[in-house]
Order: sequence, then structure tokens, then C-alpha cells
Amino acid sequence: MCGIVAYVGSREAAPILLDGLKRLEYRGYDSAGIAVLTGDHFEIRRDVGKLNNLIGKVSAAPVHGSVGIGHTRWATHGEPSERNAHPHTSASGEVVVVHNGIVENFIPLKEELQAEGVTFTSDTDTEVIVHLVDRYLHAGFPFTEAARRAIAHLRGAHGIVLLSLREPGTIVAARVGHAGGVVVGQGQGEMFIASDMPALLEHTREMAFLDPGQMVVVTRDGFRASTLEGEPLDLPLQSVSWDPVAAEKGNYKHFMQKEIHEQVRSIGDTIAGRVDFEHGRVMLPDLNLTPEYAKRIRRIVLTACGTAAHAGMVGRLLIERLAHIPAEVEIASEFRYRDPILDSDTVVIAISQSGETADTLAAMEEARRKGARLWSIVNVIGSQAMRMADGYISMQSGPEIGVASTKAFTAPLVDLYLLALHLAEMRGTLSDDERRARVAELRRLPRLVGECLARESEVERVAVALQHMDHCLYLGRGINMPIAYEGALKLKEISYIHAEGYPAGEMKHGPIALIEPSMPVVALAPRDPWYEKMLSQVEQAKARGGVVMAVVTDGDSLMPSKADHTLFVPEVSWMLSPVLTVIPLQMLAYHIAVLRGCDVDQPRNLAKSVTVE
Ligand code: G6P
Repeated sequence: MCGIVAYVGSREAAPILLDGLKRLEYRGYDSAGIAVLTGDHFEIRRDVGKLNNLIGKVSAAPVHGSVGIGHTRWATHGEPSERNAHPHTSASGEVVVVHNGIVENFIPLKEELQAEGVTFTSDTDTEVIVHLVDRYLHAGFPFTEAARRAIAHLRGAHGIVLLSLREPGTIVAARVGHAGGVVVGQGQGEMFIASDMPALLEHTREMAFLDPGQMVVVTRDGFRASTLEGEPLDLPLQSVSWDPVAAEKGNYKHFMQKEIHEQVRSIGDTIAGRVDFEHGRVMLPDLNLTPEYAKRIRRIVLTACGTAAHAGMVGRLLIERLAHIPAEVEIASEFRYRDPILDSDTVVIAISQSGETADTLAAMEEARRKGARLWSIVNVIGSQAMRMADGYISMQSGPEIGVASTKAFTAPLVDLYLLALHLAEMRGTLSDDERRARVAELRRLPRLVGECLARESEVERVAVALQHMDHCLYLGRGINMPIAYEGALKLKEISYIHAEGYPAGEMKHGPIALIEPSMPVVALAPRDPWYEKMLSQVEQAKARGGVVMAVVTDGDSLMPSKADHTLFVPEVSWMLSPVLTVIPLQMLAYHIAVLRGCDVDQPRNLAKSVTVE
């Protein structure tokens, strides 16, 4: 959601900005723009729609200069249009801004500025920022101080990057609350700023990450960091290891397809280094967990949004079964306002691929305020959710670009399995033999994931058969119930087919009324403890003329004899079965979306990283 790139150095800024924005396209946006300092003024190019429109505009009317800012906008205030696209310019033309977030008090600020004689040229909340900076520049404050004073007026959470003609080689960037990241990249005689690392990976691995309440003043030779109140700060540079090649599509048609296929590696990496197969032990040192505290834990609350919340639902069952700790899942946007009852013997675990989802971060803050222990499972190293937590587990997924999450769903499933086993060992809730056996199961998991992926052509055949449906019901029970939710979410996100995930036992309380041949039922029915129950749900659907597509375990002949379509997954212990059963559903959603001509990697209206409420 809203990508930001900024550059100061000696090279032409425009191609660097456009290339950086291209790498942030996955975040979701509906218009884009750049501003480049050219002589004594800013040259602005903006356009609605995809970045290629803007790139066309820039090649038709090139902009030259070595300082600039760029932005992809996801509309919140004002329709997607050229006039609402960022960057926005102050009335004097002296200040330009790009912004990620919502200025919650923009109406009173706009009225105040209008009363001072300012004319607004867009419908955005963002525009108040440049006019406020202009106000303080004209009152005689230097650029940085004017920016600081302007930012102090803003309510809400923001990532802000500003340029001013008063200090042509200086960029001011600030992070206020949790509205996505602000990353500073250090090059040789050039500096970069971006909302996310992928925009910078091609240029540098030396990066510094702003926390909320921090700002930086950046020139081509380096940067100075401070609090928003002006207290100097030491903001260390970190070496980031993500491989830029990993963020390219390679031979795949879409990032989503590439990321689905990367799951052998990401699951392998998730296990590697954390599991001592010889002794049947799990090691999660970044959790900072002592056996004493592990024994004290009375409750675990998993909180997250979207796909990550579905991973949490699988985790809940694993934690209860293996570690005997009562566990629950709370959607972060609800949890943050529910006034939850928490204490120091409760662990709140936030799961977030980006580590920047506004609702998840707010839920974490609520947990902190209430005195709970805070852990996170995150993919993006250095993200806010990683830094806020008392301990963390890093997903080993690598950059995920496709908006619909795939490899960053299966990695936390394995992380939660590891966590449940780790807690079980510390709490003595499993016999040595059982723990060893459960740990040993992990050894062949990456290979089994590979076997699922090798069956893509079977999934494609089913996709061809189902591609014209308008509605679809996904049913699952027990540990595969969240996979019904996740399968349905994948389908609706990228193919725009209405799909609902349901606990199969609930079918008779409503959805059964909808069953007819035009609404297929996807049934998750691997050989797990809920298999018999799924069998009877499928019978009920068939008895009403339903078309059933079942996901079953290799060797099963009973369920396939009842279903119209079947996709097989290899045999694995039921606790790890969701890692396999979700894969055909990811591929099914992908191929149906491709057959329907949808924009798989950047579905309409969706954003990869949702940094507003
Ligand atoms: C957005 C994305 C989803 C993702 C959710 C939570 O809605 O489109 O794919 O599951 O945010 O994101 P997080 O980064 O917190 O895992």
C-alpha cells in the first residue's frame, strides 16, 4: 500500500525512482508519480493507473536531475486520478511531498490553511503536509525545522518524504506511528530512501530502518537521524542479506507462481538450523524463552490479519495439542479495540509477513500496554513487528511479491509447529519418543512439498473444469478447517470468484441451502482425525446435487469414488497436513485466475502491505 522511493546522488534520479517503484508495484496502487529537482524548480510527472502509464509520460517528456522522490498511491482520500496522485507541491512550488498513511485531522488542518489563503489542488489529505511545511519555511524556519513543525500537526500514522528548493540536496523523511516502513539505503556518494527494501536491493545492502517517532535528514554523503522532537539519534546501518535475484520473476509467468514453487526451499530453510534431528530438539533462540517462563505461560493469543490469521488458526490447535497451553486466535483489527484481558503469563503472538500491517502492530501495542509477553513471527527482517517483540521467529520465505500470500503462509505453519514442539519440550508435555517422532516428521516435509508441486498439471485440469463458476464453498474440519478459509481467500483475492470457507460441520446450518451444481464444493479431506466426518459432509453435498472437488491423501479410493474431481497430496502426519493440503488450493486459485485473464500478482483493490486501518 503506497510505495515510496527517494534518491539523492550524482546519477539521473528518474530511472532510479521508476525502477524502485516498479519493484514496489506488488504493494498495490492505483496511480503513481515522481518529482525531480531540475535547476530551480521541481519537474513533476504523475499519472493514474499502472506504472507503465507514468513511464510512458516520462519518456515522452524526460526529467533530468539527481535528486527526486517517487510514489505509488493507493487511494484513501480522493479518487485515483492524476491530480490526486503524489507528489504534491506547495502553493509556492518550494516543497514537494510523498506520503504513506492517513492524516486523520486533515479537515480542520485544511480549513485552517484555507483560512490563511492556501488553495488546494487535490482532494487528498496529504496535500496539507506541503502547505504546512511551506507555512513554516515562510515564517523563517530552515527546511528540517519547518518539516518537523509541520509533522507535529498531523494525527495518525505516516511515512513522509519531503524535498524543498531551500535546501536542494537534502531529503527529509519521517516515520510517525505504524504506517509502513521508512528505510534509508547508503550507497557510495549517493543515498536512497524507500518504504520497503526491495526498492533498494539493487543499489545497496546497507540499510537503516526508522522506528515510529524518528526522522532522518539525508544528503548524498550520509544521514542524520533524530526523534520527531529533534533529539539526535544513533540509527545503525544493517547489512541486509536478501538476494535481489530472489525478487525477480525468473522463468515464471507470475511472482505468485514462482513463490508457490519456492515453497520447497522456504520450508527447507525454515527447518534448517532450527532442528536437531539427532536429539529430536527444536531451537528458537530469537524467542528469548527460558524454561521457567515456558512453564509459567497460562494462555497464548495469536493475532494477525488475512492469510496470517489462517496460519494462526492452525497454530492454535498445534499449541494446544502439543504444549497443552490454551490458545486462541484474534483478528488483529478486532483485538486492538476489544479491551482484551491480558497479563504477564499470557503470550501474544503476532504473525505478519510484512511485519508492518497497521492493525497487527496496533494489536501488539495493545498487548504491550496490557503487560503480555509479545512474540512475533515475521518475514521481513528489521520490520516493526520484529523489533517491537520480546522475541521473534523469522520466516525463511525470502521476499514475497505476489499480493496473494503463499510461501509466507506455509512457512509460519512450520514455525508454529516448531514453536509448539519447543514449548512442549520445555513444559514436559510430550514423551521423549513422541517428541522425537514429531521432529523426525519434518525431515521429509520439503520433499513432500515438492511432490505436491510436481502435480501442477492435475491441478490445471481441475482449474479448466471449474474456471466458469461464480461461487464456491470450501469446507474443512479440525486442523484443515483454516485451509478451507485460506483456499477460499486465495480464490476470491485473485480470480474475483465469490468463495467462502466454512467449518464443514456448519454446512448444515446455512450454506447447504446454496448447494446446487453451479456452486462447487471444495472439500479438504486428507487422512486426518476428521476424515470420517468429511466423508459424511461430502455425502450431504452430493445428495443435494453438489459438484465436489476433494483434496485427499495418496491411496484413498473412498473419497475419490464420491467426488467429481480429486487432487491428491502425499501422506504425512495430520499435524503437518495443512502444509501440503493448501498447495493444490494455491495452484488451483492461480490457474483459475490465469484462465480468467486476471492480474494475478496485483489483484484489483488489494495491497500487499496494509499500512492503514
Ligand atoms: C494483506 C495482504 C494479505 C496478507 C494480509 C496480512 O491483506 O494482501 O496477503 O495476508 O495483508 O499481511 P501481513 O503482512 O501482516 O502478513
